[in-house]
Amino acid sequence: SRERSQVELPPEVLVNIFSYLNPRDLARCAQVCKTWNTLTMDGQLWKAIYPVQWAQGNWSFSAPDLEQEPEDFSEDRYVVIDDDADIDETYDSDSSHSSNDSYNENIKQLRQEARVLVSITKNLLPKVGKSVETLSVAHSKAITNGLLSKMLKHCPNVQHLDVKQTNVSDTAFKRLGKDGCGSKLKTLILSGCANITDYTLIKLSQALSGGLEAVWTEEFCCQNNKSDDKDIYQEKYDCHAQVPPPCGEYEDHAEVPSMQDDDEKLSCDSIDGSTTVLPHQYIDFDSFESQLQRTFTMLELGGVPQVEGQVMSTCQNCPHQTGNVGSIENCSRLLTEERQIAVEKPQFDVIDVKKTLEYLDLSGCCMVTDVGLRALASNHGLPRLRHLDLSGCSNLSGQALTSLVDTCHALNVEELYYCDNLLDGPYPEEASGCQNLECSNRFCCRSGK
Ligand code: FES
Repeated sequence: SRERSQVELPPEVLVNIFSYLNPRDLARCAQVCKTWNTLTMDGQLWKAIYPVQWAQGNWSFSAPDLEQEPEDFSEDRYVVIDDDADIDETYDSDSSHSSNDSYNENIKQLRQEARVLVSITKNLLPKVGKSVETLSVAHSKAITNGLLSKMLKHCPNVQHLDVKQTNVSDTAFKRLGKDGCGSKLKTLILSGCANITDYTLIKLSQALSGGLEAVWTEEFCCQNNKSDDKDIYQEKYDCHAQVPPPCGEYEDHAEVPSMQDDDEKLSCDSIDGSTTVLPHQYIDFDSFESQLQRTFTMLELGGVPQVEGQVMSTCQNCPHQTGNVGSIENCSRLLTEERQIAVEKPQFDVIDVKKTLEYLDLSGCCMVTDVGLRALASNHGLPRLRHLDLSGCSNLSGQALTSLVDTCHALNVEELYYCDNLLDGPYPEEASGCQNLECSNRFCCRSGK
């Protein structure tokens, strides 16, 4: 009867029938024969991926209906898995937990979750990833930077990405902006991801801008140059200078500065211990910011920016240090009268981007700073954003937040959340305050958690 059904039913009818099945039944059908295997891998059947709820036995293509958030997670409830889904044995064999039934139950659940995550990443997403619109690994204790990075690689067109309450860090998002990855994001939930820093926001900005690097806003350039005559910069020059890429991006540029051994820094990939990170891929955000600051200081003094061990570009006017953009002729910021005359039209002033992001939740991402917000505000900001949650982000200034919010023309002010201690933030009366005051698992400067 199996053979007859293949013969009698055209493929589109079979796919239509398959569309009524849940993911587990689809996976079973995929094992029937080659034809069914091919048909069940039709992209339109796999638009939403929920590995965590599938691992818990909830085989549905609909979002989990969480009446309340899962219990607080603690560090010892994470597992370390490698690319082959092997769980760190030291965790598994910890004798202090061996008699604890709930601990054993957790281990079992974690193993199952790890298996589902790896299986989906290895076997399913390479075939259907381009059609995936929704990907949620929220509350996963088994997700690693490596796995999430691979998932994003296979799902470049994802529109709704939920990574809430996981232990991932910036490394997981290094693919954003490459080959269109993340360019269609409408929803990004990073709530409770305390390891996320400005790097991810810079990558997000690049992704939404179609791979373009973030550009500093005019206001930011002027502030960092500490110009006495700010109006000159604002009125005469469009000082959109390109941001130098973080250290982790140097491999993408032609003039790769040589990184010396003593430049090696702690990798952001600490969760996924199995991943090998080359020295030039290390991300050092302190160095990134200090390089920027040093460059601006040199500019103020009229000198050529220099950073140890790096070959600077010929451009003396913007903080772009790798030379892939620029020369003085192409630079939009000028320091001398001669250069003002030489260049009348800035090159980076018109960037046609269609940014799709509507919902951004960074609640509890306490390491995010103004640098990340400025990156989001660059390239015409986030015109479709209606929800912005920055609860727990206590390292922000009201100025930077205002410059971002000014670009968010669709923002619902009641859906703007930020730290109560930020006294000069935008819409002080209308905006909602910090949501983390009573929250036990997301950072808040008042609760101290
Ligand atoms: Fe400041 Fe919550 S982060 S009040």
